[in-house]
Formats: sequence, C-alpha cells, structure tokens
Amino acid sequence: MKTLSCFAAALMLLAAPVAASAEYLQTKTNFTERASESAETLVVLVPSDTQELSLANWSNETAAQVNRAMQVREFDGSAKQQLEIIAPVGLPVERLVLMGVGSAAELPRVDAEEMGAALANHVNGTKAGMIQVDTRLITDATENSRVTAAMAHGVDLRNYRFDRFKSEPEPRPSQVFEWLVADANTAEAHYATKRSLADGVFLARELVNLPGSTGYPAAFAEMAREALEPLGIEVTILGPEQILELGMGSLYGVSQGSQHKAHLLVAHWKGSDDQPIALVGKGNTFDTGGYNLKTSSASIRAMTTDKAGAAAVIGAVAALAAEQAPINVVAVAPLSHNLISGEAQLPGDVVTTGSGSTIEVANTDAEGRLILADGIWYAREHFNPRVIADIATLTGAKVGALGTDYSAIFSEQDDIIRTLRQAGENTNELVWQLPLGPYANIVSSDIADLRNTGSPGAQAGARLLQHFAGDTPWVHIDMAGNARVQSATGIHPQGATGYGVRLLTEWVKIYAAE
Ligand code: BES
Ligand code: MN
Ligand code: ZN
Repeated sequence: MKTLSCFAAALMLLAAPVAASAEYLQTKTNFTERASESAETLVVLVPSDTQELSLANWSNETAAQVNRAMQVREFDGSAKQQLEIIAPVGLPVERLVLMGVGSAAELPRVDAEEMGAALANHVNGTKAGMIQVDTRLITDATENSRVTAAMAHGVDLRNYRFDRFKSEPEPRPSQVFEWLVADANTAEAHYATKRSLADGVFLARELVNLPGSTGYPAAFAEMAREALEPLGIEVTILGPEQILELGMGSLYGVSQGSQHKAHLLVAHWKGSDDQPIALVGKGNTFDTGGYNLKTSSASIRAMTTDKAGAAAVIGAVAALAAEQAPINVVAVAPLSHNLISGEAQLPGDVVTTGSGSTIEVANTDAEGRLILADGIWYAREHFNPRVIADIATLTGAKVGALGTDYSAIFSEQDDIIRTLRQAGENTNELVWQLPLGPYANIVSSDIADLRNTGSPGAQAGARLLQHFAGDTPWVHIDMAGNARVQSATGIHPQGATGYGVRLLTEWVKIYAAE
C-alpha cells in the first residue's frame, strides 16, 4: 500500500496536470461605452492629428498640464509614442498614459499588438488593479474596434506565464483592462477571434515549455487531446504498435532507445467539405542527439523546444476550430523521444518508411526529418490534402543562415511562398525563402534509397522531406531558433514563443480563400 501511494505520488510529480489554457490568460478584459469610476491608470490613445488634447470630463487645469507635458516631451500622437503623467491634476487616477496611434487606419495590426504588449509590461510594473483605456479619439468605428482588439490581444500574449512548476506560483494579479470604445459589440466581436488565437498560442507555449521528461510523446498527445476535443476537433492518437503495423519504421526508430516510444497525433477540424489543408509538425519531445550525442550543455538543454513544430500545428488547428473557421484542416504530429540506451538507433542503421522508401540514418541527430518523412507520408495517404505545410525546429544551419527572427521556407510552388510571406507580414512571424536547388542529389545514399544528412544542411533536410510530399503541393518551414526567447520581449514573455500558431492560422485562412 505504502509503495503504491509513493508510486502514485511520483507519477503525479512527473505528469503535472495541464490546466485548460485559458486559465493562463490572467488578463480580464471588458469593452464598454461608459467608464467605471475607479481606475488607477487611465490610458488615452491619441491619433497624430490631435491638436489640443482634452477629454469631456477634464478641467482646464487638467488639459493645461497634459498639453504642456506633451509639448515638453514632443508628444504628437505618432504611432508607438508613449507619455506618462503621474498624479495628473484634477483626475482621480494615479497615472495618465498617452499612447500615440499615428493615423489609426494606417496602423498595422502587429504594431497595435506590440503597443498592447508594451502597455501590459508597463502596468505590470505598477500596482494598478484597473486600467482604463480610452480609445474613442479613434473615431472611425471599424478602425476603433480593429485597433482595440489588436491591442487587447497584445496584452494577452505578453501576460501569459508558465509557472506550473513553481511550488508557490505568484498570485495572478486581479487586474482588469477596461477598454472604452465607440461600439462595445463590434469591439467584442473583433476581440473574440483574437482570443481564440491567443488560446492557440498559449496551448503551443504550454506544450513547448514542458520539460523533456514530462512532455514525452504519450503525455504530449494526451495533453493536446484534452485541449482539442472540447473544441469539436477529431483527435486520433496512434501508439507504437500501430505505427509499426503501418510500416512507419522511420518514425518508430528515433524513440526506440527510450522507454517512451513513438506516437502520432492527428487533429482534424473539418470546417468545410473542401479537400483538406495538412499541417505536419515535428514533435521531438526531447533531442539528446542520440548516439551522435549533443555535447555542449547549452545545445542539449535547448532541446526541450524540439517539439515546437508539433505545438504550432496543434495550436493553429485549435485556433481555427475555436473561431469555427469554415476550413478543412488537419494537423499531423509525429512524436518522438530521441534518447540513448542499448536499444537505441545506431549511426549507419537503415530504416524503412511507411511509403516503402528506405533511409540510411547517417546521423542520429538528424531525427526530425526521419519522423516527418512518415508524418508527411501519413498525411498524404490518409487525407489526400490539397497542400502540405510541414514545420520543424530542423537545423542549426537555418539559425546560421537567417538567425531567429525569420524562419526559412522551401517550396517549388510560388503561390505557397507568396501567401506564406503575406501571412508572415500580417503576424510578424516572418519567413524567408531559401532555394531547394540545385541540390538534387544531396540526400542520396550508397546503401539505401535516401540518407538523412547532406550539404548544405538546411537544404538537405528540405530535400529529404520533399521526397515524401511527392506531387502534393508542399512547403517546408524550418523554425529552428524561433521557438523560445531567453528574456521577455514585445508580445513574448520569457520562454516558449508559440511561434508558428499565428503564422499558420493566418496562412491557412489566406490559402483556403485563394
Ligand atoms: N533539433 C535540432 C535542430 C536545432 C538546432 C533546433 C538548434 C534548434 C536550435 C535537430 O534535430 C538537429 O540536431 N539537427 C542537426 C542535423 C545534423 C546532425 C545533420 C543540426 O542542425 O546540427
Ligand atoms: Mn537532432
Ligand atoms: Zn531535433
């Protein structure tokens, strides 16, 4: 009895339950046409054509102080300008913050999101419980709700926190953002879509932030299922036996040295009867490198993020389902645990994929393409998609080429490149095309059909995957380095960024409408 309860306790320690992602959204958000009385902080959004700033309930003294401060700081309402007045004369608030929005009609969505994030960061440094944001100087009703919803989204994204492993998590501030708008219903409707998107981002961040021994393949799949099924998404999880039965030896092999074997998660949102769009994400729940062991402590520690491609496709499908998008989209996430033991894959082994093609495992650390080869094959075989986008933390070579602000995209279809670029600009999850060619033979092997390494490094990964996409229109997104930030910046708190959720959600909508 005693051993049993100890064992149960140990299990609980390992698999801390995943709270519904929305609980991590600490920010309470209201849209109203009438201000409540008691805010500690008043924020006013100021368009650049404002000559004299004065709100309806301001006295002459208040207006005089504010306008003098604006002159001194040369605040003219240009986008992203910020001016704070402590204890403004004649107002009941502790702080008055002016934020410039420039010409609201020209303010890009991503700039409004960044402004919201900057505001969240600013007020989190104060004790304010109620933050009132007066948006009504943006008089155009459509622009007013668009900018307001985007700013509120930026607040949400920045305020996410991962603290499930703190024994005493900091209490969530009972902070309320009250947005004073021209039309509360319209603003609320705009915001509802953003809220679905934020929940998708949070789900991805939760999954990526999980340590390698907590978020192993089966646990990762269950956590995703718990979040996805309530949204009306059909979830299928294949275990290691089914993976072997279907012949996916390439997916299976990466985890064969771990006690946590391979899984494959399929999440289908059938929002229309069109031919589906398939998103395939790399879910390597930890990457030691295998027998080609990662030998620097920094490089191996960072590999908790090696499941970020899977998290991105899961988060995107969650966001699309939550907003009931009329789109047929399926996420396929091959899940592995790249560990070593007496049963682990060896450099030089040959694996057979579901498609029948064989791959020489020249390097056990090039495992992402091994699991994606079967993931892409499975998506084609079972869903006959009109297009496949795969996304993965695939190569260090990509980080060397483009750094961490862009992901690399590879495709032979110009319409996919064009629409992905557009999605990247709309969401500030930027992409940059790298050429697939002229590297036709870089992944050929002497002993098998294909080899999992080649040069140049990022292209070798792409070329191997292309083989499994066959004649289905396809794009490969290498997001190595984009999954995590070391310290908070913009819309990102420290830790997982949820990169890819916003990009893919936007891209699927654009591509489906073409
Ligand atoms: N998960 C890594 C790629 C990676 C590197 C992601 C840095 C994020 C930051 C991948 O599995 C890997 O190990 N790639 C190798 C491939 C090589 C052995 C052909 C690499 O890029 O070094
Ligand atoms: Mn690796
Ligand atoms: Zn990896």
